[in-house]
Amino acid sequence: MEMVMNHQLASLILFMGLFTSAFAVSVIATPSRRNLSGAIKEMQDAKYYSFVMLIKMHPLETLLQNVTFFMPSDKILSDSALSEDGVHQFLLEHSMPAPLLFNQLRNFPTASLIPTSHAGFMLNVSNNGVNSFYINNVKIVGPNICTSGSSIRCHGINGLLGPVINTTSPIFP
Ligand SMILES: *[C@@H]1O[C@H](CO)[C@@H](O)[C@H](O)[C@H]1NC(C)=O
Ligand SMILES: *[C@@H]1O[C@H](CO)[C@@H](O)[C@H](O)[C@H]1NC(C)=O
Ligand SMILES: *[C@@H]1O[C@H](CO)[C@@H](O)[C@H](O)[C@H]1NC(C)=O
Ligand SMILES: *[C@@H]1O[C@H](CO)[C@@H](O)[C@H](O)[C@H]1NC(C)=O
Repeated sequence: MEMVMNHQLASLILFMGLFTSAFAVSVIATPSRRNLSGAIKEMQDAKYYSFVMLIKMHPLETLLQNVTFFMPSDKILSDSALSEDGVHQFLLEHSMPAPLLFNQLRNFPTASLIPTSHAGFMLNVSNNGVNSFYINNVKIVGPNICTSGSSIRCHGINGLLGPVINTTSPIFP
């Protein structure tokens, strides 16, 4: 009897072990998740806590790699009327599907329409030099906050990026 119990217990422990490691591999420890947790640490170090909370509330597969986030400050986000239902769209429209450092972003001249992660919706660039670069009339005030990973970049901005421009293709004049 005792043998049977031990066997069942051992099976249960083995099963749980397998389950736990499978879960860890698929949900937590993939390289792209590590990219995101590295970027989140950089956002937190720069005090973009509210933006991090939105990412954690609404983790999107498309935002795990090859992405640039445009992050309003905690003050701006706390003043905003963002609803829980709006978080998904907010994150898609405050990011773009390529990891760009500020030096790469500022190659876009004024009147470029650059894609957001919301397919078909663009941001309007106004580029008046390194200290005066705007997307949708919102200034980039904290360039290059996420830099350590290879596939996630993020920059601080001093407003909310709305409304994005509904058009079929980007424009790179
Ligand atoms: C991210 O970009 C890299 C390099 O261009 C590419 O190899 C990889 O497939 C991309 N990943 C996704 C999910 O698009
Ligand atoms: C982009 O912004 C500029 C002003 O910076 C404006 O003149 C232009 O019409 C805007 N483009 C679109 C497509 O909204
Ligand atoms: C980021 O993700 C890519 C693709 O999954 C991976 O190859 C790369 O090693 C990751 N980089 C970091 C810093 O985790
Ligand atoms: C975007 O534009 C397309 C085509 O012009 C239109 O069908 C669609 O309803 C628009 N989407 C939004 C959210 O305005």
